[in-house]
Amino acid sequence: MIKQITTALFFAMTLISCDSGNKGEVKEKANEPQTIVMETNDPHTFAKPDEVVVKHLDWTANVDFDSSMIIATAKWTIENKTGASEVIFDTKGLKIDYVTVGNNDEIGTFILEPEIKYMGQKLIVSITPNTEIVRIYYRTTENSDALQWLTKEQTADKTHPFLFTQSQAILARTWIPCQDSPGIRFTYNARVKVPHQMMALMSAYNPTDTMINGVYDFQMEYPIPSYLMALSVGNIQYQSVGRNTGIYAEPSMLAKSVAEFEDMQEMVDSAEALYGAYRWGKYDVLVLPPSFPFGGMENPRLTFATPTILAGDKSLTSLIAHELAHSWSGNLVTNYNWNDFWLNEGFTVYFENRIMEQVYGADYANMLALISYQDLKAEMEDFGMESPRTKLKLDLAGQDPDEGMTSIAYDKGFYLLKLIEQTVGREEFDSFLKTYFDTYAFKSMTTEGFVAYINKELLSKKSEWKEKVNLNEWIYNPGLPENCPKIISDRFEKVEGELTKLESGTAPSELATSNWSTHEWLHFLRNLPTEMTQEQMIALDKTFGFTKSGNSEILAAWFVKVIPNNYKEAKPAIESFLVSVGRRKFLTPIYKSLITADPSKAAAREIYKKARPNYHAVAVQTMDDLLDWNQN
Ligand code: BES
Ligand code: ZN
Repeated sequence: MIKQITTALFFAMTLISCDSGNKGEVKEKANEPQTIVMETNDPHTFAKPDEVVVKHLDWTANVDFDSSMIIATAKWTIENKTGASEVIFDTKGLKIDYVTVGNNDEIGTFILEPEIKYMGQKLIVSITPNTEIVRIYYRTTENSDALQWLTKEQTADKTHPFLFTQSQAILARTWIPCQDSPGIRFTYNARVKVPHQMMALMSAYNPTDTMINGVYDFQMEYPIPSYLMALSVGNIQYQSVGRNTGIYAEPSMLAKSVAEFEDMQEMVDSAEALYGAYRWGKYDVLVLPPSFPFGGMENPRLTFATPTILAGDKSLTSLIAHELAHSWSGNLVTNYNWNDFWLNEGFTVYFENRIMEQVYGADYANMLALISYQDLKAEMEDFGMESPRTKLKLDLAGQDPDEGMTSIAYDKGFYLLKLIEQTVGREEFDSFLKTYFDTYAFKSMTTEGFVAYINKELLSKKSEWKEKVNLNEWIYNPGLPENCPKIISDRFEKVEGELTKLESGTAPSELATSNWSTHEWLHFLRNLPTEMTQEQMIALDKTFGFTKSGNSEILAAWFVKVIPNNYKEAKPAIESFLVSVGRRKFLTPIYKSLITADPSKAAAREIYKKARPNYHAVAVQTMDDLLDWNQN
């Protein structure tokens, strides 16, 4: 549906839409700032929440490791707003056994439509205007892409198998039939049965001990969108690290994880001091096996994290600050649909940076900001400055929303917020953000709703602010605006000085690198010359021990530099990294460099053949495309 409305009306409508969760999205065209085009709904759900919307989920599940299957019942409480005769759910890769309607569990009628790419299958259940309960009896299949079932050999302790889910962006529908849109929120409780001696955890109030009978009860009393549904099952133990913070990990990983994340409580306290109360009770982190496809995932009350941030020196814990920050930006105020993804991630990178500044100082935060700038520049150059993919507001209809997970949402979003901060001053901006999170807590937000809100509440306070920032250019145009803030880092400038010396012939052992932090090393590695001789690489490696580093970021940055220069000494390390680590952010650039070195892709495919069984479906999909895996 397309409709033209005036700016005043548009502001009112946006507020209404945020209230009701999933209504009119309002889009402003870049070159016609006065013309506003409105389109409804989320292009990545089949659900029609304006007619019938879910309110609460009561989930009963049996997790069966023998058959790698979850056999479950999703009992949904629904609200029929229009007296509709059907309710629509998203499903993908699920086997629906049967459906019942109403409190008495009466057999119901349903249609499961043919599969549509990315979207899955529309599930239509017949209801009456009075129906409040719909139960879906179903099981997962091997096409349930959110799930990764690990054998015990694929875990750290190798004693028990392991299961974890990854629902964002639209994979919740592969393990729970649901209205899978970030604009739709529901509360949930769950009863999950798992094998003896295993612990089950969800994005909910969690146990801290293993239950003898393998039965776990969960509750999430705050409404959350489906992409924040999460489950993990394994031989897991818990240790508290602060007042409302703690760590879950496999027994052999627990002490190391607790030491790495010892500043977590300070991060939570700093976050609260910045933008108001942490509203979710506990903040815990679950350290997963290395196949977890992301660095972290902000599942409410329980961040899921990759073990590749356990560097031994706390140097990669900004990732925890990031996932924690999502407890406000994302989990409290949620992007309305995946076209507004920057509202989740850009705000979170900004908030993450502020937490890091508070806990570790401005020098540290500036290094992070500059790394973010480098990522942004690289992504922009890769896409091309004119590419629509470089806009903050995306148009992902008909595509996998995963396509939006680029540095643009994260880092261009961050720099826009940094610009606003610099324009209006920190104090004004902080108080604005605090009120924003408060006003829209447990609601969804469109890009246009945000623009209207910030214009009204902040940027109109001084006549020049709007023009100085130029939100429209940042949000609706491709490329990077001229007014992008410049961050200066003395520490990185020193690194650049040493790089210049290296390039003019100084031996690596003569460089002044003592006391460099991980980020200084990353800056050094990223800016090494593109072409290096065997002798140069050997000398660097001998002096600094990159190939043997226990720091995943340093390894990945080093590999990317030396692979195209055919540094054979690193080959075994590269292979063992790719076989054991499934974090997509590392896999993509490393496989890409293998392809640069050998465009036939044979070398990359040889390693991938061994590594692929260890990867989660999300990483498999990306690597299959990169390596033309299914065409051979
Ligand atoms: N929510 C994201 C992860 C995500 C985004 C999963 C989109 C699926 C679709 C998470 O908060 C995130 O951004 N993780 C980053 C870490 C961060 C420090 C930039 C990651 O995994 O690399
Ligand atoms: Zn994030």
